[in-house]
Amino acid sequence: MKTVHSIQAIRDFVQAAKAEGKSIAFVPTMGNLHAGHLSLVHKAQEQADAVIVSIYVNPLQFGASEDLESYPRTLAEDQAQLKNEKVDLLFAPSTEEIYPEGMDHHTTVAVDSLSNMHCGKSRPGHFTGVATIVCKLLNIVQPDIAVFGIKDFQQLAVIRKMVDDLYIPIKIVGADIARDEHGLALSSRNGYLTQEELAIAPKLYATLCDVKEAIKTGIPFDIILKDATANLARAGFKPDYIDICNQHSLLPASSKDKELVVLAAAYLGKARLIDNIVINLN
Ligand code: PAJ
Repeated sequence: MKTVHSIQAIRDFVQAAKAEGKSIAFVPTMGNLHAGHLSLVHKAQEQADAVIVSIYVNPLQFGASEDLESYPRTLAEDQAQLKNEKVDLLFAPSTEEIYPEGMDHHTTVAVDSLSNMHCGKSRPGHFTGVATIVCKLLNIVQPDIAVFGIKDFQQLAVIRKMVDDLYIPIKIVGADIARDEHGLALSSRNGYLTQEELAIAPKLYATLCDVKEAIKTGIPFDIILKDATANLARAGFKPDYIDICNQHSLLPASSKDKELVVLAAAYLGKARLIDNIVINLN
């Protein structure tokens, strides 16, 4: 597997692959790869002839007090994993390549409707950073499909909306959440957890499963959410939010909505963990 760092090199590869009639699937990541990322690679391999992965820790999506500096960067290990999975090409650009005029002089893509709720409330500017980098990467690579994890449910919704609104001719595919044997959603940020916190962390998903059961038995949403927040706090989390939403608009769900998603974020020690559970009542 070749690693390229320049936009020109990736364009040359894609042009040659397309000339051979190959379809291209793209998996954008920030590296420090785990089995969740690799499940996206497998989904991409099922759906296209050639798979390109990118690794780029995008400064624009990190807030001033967030973990940009300490975010784990493990390129050599990531390369070994991708080689093992027979990925065709890795794109690992520098910030100079992506933002040649620096971080303050660039066009941004803002998906206003979906960016200021849930995670957007406590991470202002985050989803504009995500939409901007994903738009850039999609335009650089120009794949037929791009694969994103349902783990980042709001991120996937923002990307789908951007692609629809800007008529970007790329199919967006969502991939299921990969979890460890205790139910904890895999995440590069789990590496920030101590042994003690690792024992608590699966309670985030367990709480979401309890919320799902409570919704099915018809308990009013406000009571369910109050209980869930208290349970998370009791387990040792500092809950950021837990919301029962319409799966499509991400607005607060009413008792008439049938296609729901429960979105949650909670701090545990140094890590901010997010998770979600989809509920179809039909
Ligand atoms: P990153 O956190 O590295 O995640 C890359 C992709 O892997 C995302 O689509 C994410 O949803 C998916 N993913 C992460 N953990 C997962 C899990 N446990 N199960 C399934 N999929 C999982 O998300 C980003 O990077 C960035 O915001 C990015 C889209 C690359 C833009 O910079």
